[in-house]
Amino acid sequence: MIKELTITAPDDLHLHIRDEAMMQLVLPHSAAQFRRATIMPNLKPPVTTTELALAYRERIMAAIPSNMLFTPLIPLYLTDKTAGTEIRRAYESGISRAMKYYPAGATTNSDSAVTNIENIREAIDVMIELGMPLLIHGEVTDPSVDFFDRESRFIDEILEPLRRKVPDLKIVMEHISTKHAVDYITSADSKLAATITPHHIALNRNALFAGGINPHNFCFPILKSEDNRQAVLEAAISGNPKFFLGTDSAPHARANKERTGGFGGLYSAFAALPIYAEEFEKAGALDKLEAFASFYGADFYGIERNSGTVTLIKEALTIPDYFDVDGDQLVPMRAGDMISWRMA
Ligand code: DOR
Ligand code: ZN
Repeated sequence: MIKELTITAPDDLHLHIRDEAMMQLVLPHSAAQFRRATIMPNLKPPVTTTELALAYRERIMAAIPSNMLFTPLIPLYLTDKTAGTEIRRAYESGISRAMKYYPAGATTNSDSAVTNIENIREAIDVMIELGMPLLIHGEVTDPSVDFFDRESRFIDEILEPLRRKVPDLKIVMEHISTKHAVDYITSADSKLAATITPHHIALNRNALFAGGINPHNFCFPILKSEDNRQAVLEAAISGNPKFFLGTDSAPHARANKERTGGFGGLYSAFAALPIYAEEFEKAGALDKLEAFASFYGADFYGIERNSGTVTLIKEALTIPDYFDVDGDQLVPMRAGDMISWRMA
C-alpha cells in the first residue's frame, strides 16, 4: 500500500480567497498545498481592471507566510464594458492568464457581470490573439429553469452557440457537475476543457439533506445525483488532459451560510489536495492525481508547469469543526471528519 505520494507542485486553477480577515485565514491553507492559483475576482466590488487586480495581488502577497511560495493569477471579471485594451494590459502586466465570465446573477457577487456575450466581442478577439482562456461559470440564471438543470441548459443554449461563433477561443467550463458536461467536453475539440472540484467528485446531492438540511454543502453549481457525481469523478481520473484541478473553494462565514438566502460555496481549501487524493485512491487512480493537479491545467493555460514538489502522507487527518474568523466562524468541507491523507 502506498504510504507517501510526491508530485510536482500543483495549481489550483479556481480559488476564492476573498479579502481582509477571511483572506488572512484561508490563503495560508492554499499556499501550503498549491504553488499557484487562479484567484477568482468576484469581490465586492469585483476585480474588473488591471489596476484593481494589481492592488489585490499586493494584498495577497502580504498575506502569504514568508516560508511559502505562492503565485496568484487573477483573471479580470468581465463586464459588458470590458475593452480589448484592458485585456491586453492585464496580460502584459503578467497578472492575468485567463479572463472570467459570470452570467449576470449566476452566483455570489455576479450582478455586474456580462448580460450578453455579444457585448464583449472585442475583448474575446484580444483573448484569442493572446491565447488566453475564457473561464466560464456555466449556468443559466433564468428562474424558471429547474435549479438542477442550470448547467445542462447553459451548455445547450449558451456554450454550444458561443463555441460555434468563436471556435478559436480557449474555454474552461468551470466546476462541472453533470454527466452532460463530461460528455460534451470529452467530445469537443481541444479548445474546450473543464475544472473539477473536490466536492463535485466526493459528494452527491444527498449531502444537502443528510441529517437535516445542510447549507454548508450548498454551492453553485448545486450538487447533483449520484450518477452525475460518478461521471465527474470518472472524468477526473480518466487521464484526459481536458479535465484538471480547480477547487472552487469558496469561504463564507457561518452566519452567511446558515440563514434564509444563505450563500453558495464550500470551503474545501483547508484539505483540498488530501481530499482529492482520498477520492482518487478510492477509485484506484492515485497514479492519475499528479497530471490532473499539476500538468493539464498549466498546459491548457499555456503556462509553464511548476518546478518543485509537494508530498502527501497516508496518515489520518481530522478536519476541524470550524475556524474562527472576524468574530464569526468558517466551517470547512467535511468538518469533523477524519480523512486518510495529509500534507507532509
Ligand atoms: O458555490 C460557489 N461559490 N460557486 C461559485 O461559483 C462562486 C462561489 C462564491 O464565490 O461563493
Ligand atoms: Zn467559483
